[in-house]
Amino acid sequence: KSPSPAAAEAKSEAAKSVKIGTYFATWWALNVVFNIYNKKVLNAYPYPWLTSTLSLACGSLMMLVSWATKIAEPPKIDLEFWKALFPVAVAHTIGHVAATVSMSKVAVSFTHIIKSGEPAFSVIVSRFLLGERFPPAVYLSLVPIIGGCGLAALTELNFNMTGNNLNSFDTQITIFSITVACLLVRNCRTRKRLFSLSVLYEINVDHQFETEHFLFKCVFTTMVSCFEYLCNFLFRVMTGVLNLVVHGVFSGFMGAMISNLAFVFRNIFSKKGMKGKSVSGMNYYACLSMLSLLILTPFAIAVEGPHMWAAGWKEAVSEIGPQFIWWVVAQSIFYHLYNQVSYMSLDEISPLTFSVGNTMKRISVIVSSIIIFRTPVQPINALGAAIAILGTFLYSQVRDHVNYKRGCILVL
Ligand code: 3PG
Repeated sequence: KSPSPAAAEAKSEAAKSVKIGTYFATWWALNVVFNIYNKKVLNAYPYPWLTSTLSLACGSLMMLVSWATKIAEPPKIDLEFWKALFPVAVAHTIGHVAATVSMSKVAVSFTHIIKSGEPAFSVIVSRFLLGERFPPAVYLSLVPIIGGCGLAALTELNFNMTGNNLNSFDTQITIFSITVACLLVRNCRTRKRLFSLSVLYEINVDHQFETEHFLFKCVFTTMVSCFEYLCNFLFRVMTGVLNLVVHGVFSGFMGAMISNLAFVFRNIFSKKGMKGKSVSGMNYYACLSMLSLLILTPFAIAVEGPHMWAAGWKEAVSEIGPQFIWWVVAQSIFYHLYNQVSYMSLDEISPLTFSVGNTMKRISVIVSSIIIFRTPVQPINALGAAIAILGTFLYSQVRDHVNYKRGCILVL
């Protein structure tokens, strides 16, 4: 007896869910492994331009072998295809190398927290460069993304304003309040009482005072306190900025920001360039890797160069041992595989499901890298990361709703 149409439909729905679930699980797992090996390699061998090139080279080689041995069907493409792919490849190359530079400078989790702000870049580029307008709900959904990323990045950027100076800050606030109270209170005895209180807080004024003299000193002391506080504040900000540059957090932060911007352009160009083309996700990504490799190689040689690579390689192998080579192989293979699976899953699922999947992917990378690399995380950072990720989720829902009404698909 053949199953009823409703039962057959339920069965095919269940099979589709299993297939998508498998894609997602594979994509996230491959991405986690890539991020771990990538960071291990960069810790021992800080040449992000070379490691980015190697991952593209490895992917290109794997796909050429697959086509030659007929494991995968080679795509039928023409010159027009490569022309349309060129701007996508430029943006992909910049985004890839910038993310790798970022990860060579800061914790993996930090790079991915900043990268979870990609939707905000999408809105800003669409609004200011493409002139696209959005309803207020879209802009509002960016508030938790930007605010959350800011909170998560707070201590990394060394702008922590609490700490040792908390007590002196409290004292100055107290002095300020007492002084204001002195100025407001007209009764002389109360003023004197307040003054003796202010002495407890070390306002150094003459005990033999006259009321006006006392008031003048209070105002003066308050001004000095405020000035001191301002100087202290500026000094801390300046040392924060200096630390930022000296320790390379700046380039870690900037790398992730540049990567976000580049990937937004990559998505816009690929949407424009791929209209009406029938190339599978796997082959599309293979061609993208090859073209990106051609673009990146001369820049990698110019920025780092074989001389530095050879010296660094010797050092890394002597420090880590021969398994270092396998780390490099693993990061290169896993980079290609996770991207390939993500492009393949894009063939099967809606862009909204893809963007939600991408956000979930960042959570798995952030959590696993914090555990594996024992990244110190303060509660404020964890709260910020959670808010940013929730914001990305809200954004994708709101943007999908807007795009649905306009009759177009979501591009993150
Ligand atoms: C890269 O090296 O290209 C980045 O790690 C990409 O990160 P994403 O695929 O998670 O955006």
